[in-house]
Amino acid sequence: MNLADSAFLRACRRQAVPHTPVWYMRQAGRSLPEYLKVREGVPMLTACETPDLIVEITMQPVRRYGVDAAIFFSDIVVPLKAIGVDLDIKPGVGPVVADPIRDAKALDVLRPLEPDDVPYVTEAIRALTGELGGTPLIGFAGAPFTLGSYLIEGGPSKNHDRTKAMMYGEPKLWHALMERLTDIVLTHLRVQIDAGASAVQLFDSWVGAVAPDDYREFILPHTRRIFAGVADVPRIHFGVGTGELLGVLGEAGADVVGVDWRVPLDEAARRVGPGKALQGNLDPAILLAPWEVVERKAREVLRRGGAAEGHVFNLGHGVLPSTDPDQLKRLTDLVHEATS
Ligand code: CP3
Repeated sequence: MNLADSAFLRACRRQAVPHTPVWYMRQAGRSLPEYLKVREGVPMLTACETPDLIVEITMQPVRRYGVDAAIFFSDIVVPLKAIGVDLDIKPGVGPVVADPIRDAKALDVLRPLEPDDVPYVTEAIRALTGELGGTPLIGFAGAPFTLGSYLIEGGPSKNHDRTKAMMYGEPKLWHALMERLTDIVLTHLRVQIDAGASAVQLFDSWVGAVAPDDYREFILPHTRRIFAGVADVPRIHFGVGTGELLGVLGEAGADVVGVDWRVPLDEAARRVGPGKALQGNLDPAILLAPWEVVERKAREVLRRGGAAEGHVFNLGHGVLPSTDPDQLKRLTDLVHEATS
């Protein structure tokens, strides 16, 4: 099948679909036994720099579930490591940065990313486009706010206090940091598109911590610049806890807005406004409940998703590590059967 005719790309463009397309954030990863096997003894960031492993891990959920899109196996901090930021991904914790960015001098480490800094990304995506055939590959990057939070806090944070302190207290430094991250993110997305990614997702996972007016002032100009620079492919914009931000996220320039589980999709469509497709939004924790519950809730998501101009079925956030892969297989089949 022609890639452009895939259900996923058609739904992103708000065109008629043969069935509702489905993929899962974090579909590759710790819930899959075949993933744990190939990752044995290999640190996360090493895996992200090894083309053979990237290809294998990206393919695993496509083979097992028959999802409508693959997501490139990597992490949001990979381009930062590639330009020399001293960081690691600690199992069970997340990204940890050795020298947090707290002043203008510290910005120097954020030099522009060059395509040659991430040769393993280009190599893996070229190999993947061959293996995937008619299944689209989603490239991705972390958004400047979410990347900035890891860089400023030095690691995962509940309230993003230091991040907000810089945003409110040192707006010039804040915007300078966002500018540098925007340049890095743009190059990283361009590398993925130029190598063969068919769509991109910008993960602003932690932006739900910010109020709408502050989003508009401190973040929107930067996300707008990112989406304007990748307008040749469908663009997905995702964050968690963004119920109050859906309207302003709709202004950032993506084709598809991701919705977590807190706002039903018909209401989200109203908040985002016309001219957008939606992605989501089954609560990932529902997959830990008996199948009858999963089925009932998934049908409800599909019904309410019908109010959107296009719907890409997904979870409201990433697959939880304790998820039974058989539940995800059944869910994928249900979405396909219920909508074709
Ligand atoms: O579907 C996929 O798995 C695609 C690959 C992918 C990973 N991270 C692999 C990964 C993607 C798209 C990401 C994005 C990412 N990374 C985000 C945005 C998405 C989201 O969940 O909100 C964020 C915030 C990160 C930062 C990060 N990296 C966290 C919070 C963690 C989890 C730490 C933990 O162990 O609990 C990571 C590590 C990570 N990234 C793992 C995987 C498979 C687990 C590490 C491992 O298996 O050793």
